[in-house]
Amino acid sequence: MPNIVVVGAQWGDEGKGKVIDMLTEKTDIVVRFQGGNNAGHTVVVGGQEFIMHLIPSGILHPGKYCVIGNGVVVDPAGLLEEIEGLRKRGIQVTPANLGVSDQAHLIFPYHRTLDKLKEAKVGPGKIGTTGRGIGPCYTDKAARVGIRLADLLDREVFRKKLQLNIEEKNILFTRVYQAPALNFEEIFESYSRYAEQLAPHTVNAPLVLNRAVKEGKSILFEGAQGTWLDIDHGTYPYVTSSNATAGGACVGTGVGPSLIDQVIGVVKAYTTRVGEGPFPTEFPPALMEQIRTKGKEFGATTHRPRRCGWFDAVLVRHSIILNGINEIAVTKLDVLDDCPTVKICTTYRLAGKALETPPANIDRWSQVEPIYEEHPGWLADTSQAGSFEELPPQAQKYLKRLEELLGVRISIVSVGSKREQAFHV
Ligand code: IMP
Repeated sequence: MPNIVVVGAQWGDEGKGKVIDMLTEKTDIVVRFQGGNNAGHTVVVGGQEFIMHLIPSGILHPGKYCVIGNGVVVDPAGLLEEIEGLRKRGIQVTPANLGVSDQAHLIFPYHRTLDKLKEAKVGPGKIGTTGRGIGPCYTDKAARVGIRLADLLDREVFRKKLQLNIEEKNILFTRVYQAPALNFEEIFESYSRYAEQLAPHTVNAPLVLNRAVKEGKSILFEGAQGTWLDIDHGTYPYVTSSNATAGGACVGTGVGPSLIDQVIGVVKAYTTRVGEGPFPTEFPPALMEQIRTKGKEFGATTHRPRRCGWFDAVLVRHSIILNGINEIAVTKLDVLDDCPTVKICTTYRLAGKALETPPANIDRWSQVEPIYEEHPGWLADTSQAGSFEELPPQAQKYLKRLEELLGVRISIVSVGSKREQAFHV
């Protein structure tokens, strides 16, 4: 099995968890490389739904090794809770199948508080974050004051770094936000307890991963969020604070680009986004309601209703370039089963001119007019299809047209949330 990066090619929530779950069967190691517990990867196995926020979805397969890479921001309380939740449901999680990079930055309560205070302060111009402290934690990382797992494991180093951070944050909290000051001892003690629990999982991830590749093992890189939430390439500033594109897989794990064999982009058969920012193909209210209900389009982490719209080929075409995508997985095709007509956005128009790619200027992006082509719907149940040939002819045509517009092969189609409801093409 080659080393594969799986990324979202839209605004996240494309169903990457399910695709990872399918591919895990043939891989040895699954690694998360960016984001944190803002993600919510849903996998349904044997009628049971599992939502993973930090732990790679591969954990559901016995015998696979999972890694949380250096590019991930780890909320220790969230991670320990997730480990405990899985164990209670009979899933083995031990240092033998879960490693956490000693270079991963940690999320502290002040990051979560700051995330919420900032959003509340800006009001209407807010990003619509998940409130998990992701942005403030990456801010500290870039400002070189962040605290990493390796720091946490050394009590004296941790004490010093936490003291510095709390002193600085308390000035910000009390003077700028008129919020209560933080209690150093409380945080120090609770995080020291987390340190004990996380120590056995702590690994030098680049070493572990590169050694495994040398031994002939294969790695699946599990992207979180999606291309258009990428800090560099997305709908900035309405993005997350990490590189959700394929390049992030190398930076966030310490595995070099020459070792990556393949990039699979995951897309929904339509489009969704959570949070604020431009969304040219967004549905009008009635259709929004219909698709949101049928597709259960509510955030797996925050339970917020997702905004829904038609498939945007302009967006995904550019994702293919940005990530070097060589294969596409299409999920949730069944959600469109009841649509008499399905539309695909093929071009954007702005001030009378056709645009080949989305504009970098966010205000201009909000003003683009999506140009659609319309296709007859298939008006038949696709959820039982076990192969491309078993799909209704109009659904086959829809997928073929997507392939044509994107210039990349569709290799996986998913038609429902269960593990069995998907097939390779
Ligand atoms: P943050 O990552 O919590 O800072 O949120 C920034 C933006 O990314 C917001 O629009 C969130 O709704 C969005 N976002 C973050 N994580 C996910 C995800 O896993 N799926 C979809 N949207 C996400």
